[in-house]
Amino acid sequence: MTRRRQVYEGKAKVLFEGPEPGTLVQYFKDDATAFNNKKKGTITGKGVLNNRISEYLMTRLGEVGIPTHFVRRLNMREQLIKEVEIIPLEVVVRNVAAGSLATRLGVAEGTMLPRSIVEFYYKNDELGDPLVSEEHITCFGWANPQEIDELMHLALRINDFLSGLFLGIGIRLVDFKLEFGRWWQNDEMRIILADEISPDSARLWDLKTNEKMDKDRFRRDLGNVAEAYQEVARRLGILPEGGPRDIKGPDTMQ
Ligand SMILES: Nc1ncnc2c1ncn2[C@@H]1O[C@H](COP(=O)(O)OP(=O)(O)OP(=O)(O)O)[C@@H](O)[C@H]1O
Ligand SMILES: [Mg+2]
Repeated sequence: MTRRRQVYEGKAKVLFEGPEPGTLVQYFKDDATAFNNKKKGTITGKGVLNNRISEYLMTRLGEVGIPTHFVRRLNMREQLIKEVEIIPLEVVVRNVAAGSLATRLGVAEGTMLPRSIVEFYYKNDELGDPLVSEEHITCFGWANPQEIDELMHLALRINDFLSGLFLGIGIRLVDFKLEFGRWWQNDEMRIILADEISPDSARLWDLKTNEKMDKDRFRRDLGNVAEAYQEVARRLGILPEGGPRDIKGPDTMQ
């Protein structure tokens, strides 16, 4: 295979040109960052696990009619995706108070929200991804009102489906971040789910013990970060007993 041309390197992933026009290869790194890049580290095996977990969740979502960018997994760390024009918003869905919502509004972490909340953050690292309202989004042209409705609708459907899926394996879906993009087919534009869904982008708590099984273990130096990601994969039924090294693929050696 010829060397792929790199399109973008982010904090957790690298994008390469795909084999056909309109496709990209998404490579998952072990690098982890938190607090807008102020804390940096690596979580051994994270890339392999997130590639798998995101593949699994996007495939399940696709089966229930949520359009996603996921095409197929290529190997341990790479997946083929549809190239989209990313809408510069982080769409966050919350079911339980945690993270910035708990801090900003003084709500105790772990408080069940009476209903799920959808929030929008402007994707801009220099500004620290600020919370924005629909007014800001339409005023600055990041998305139009119809697109905002579609984002909300998709985000809530994804939340319903994933909340149930995780509940079934003893995990509470506390909150999660989604990215969407515009995808053109012939002359029609569709909004599809992009980026990743993984313990990097979601808060997952064990239902019985409330133990954190996500990137908060890294953010707060709670230890056993890779083990927590592995446990999520194991419960999803996508991790062979021996750990990530047991998953057959061309790039087992890192
Ligand atoms: N299907 C897609 N088409 C085009 N770009 C995508 C697609 N899916 C995800 N992306 C973008 O690819 C990048 C993935 O890299 P990574 O998550 O490491 O970025 P990041 O460091 O979080 O930076 P950013 O602030 O740009 O998200 C992100 O910028 C994301 O928006
Ligand atoms: Mg990202």
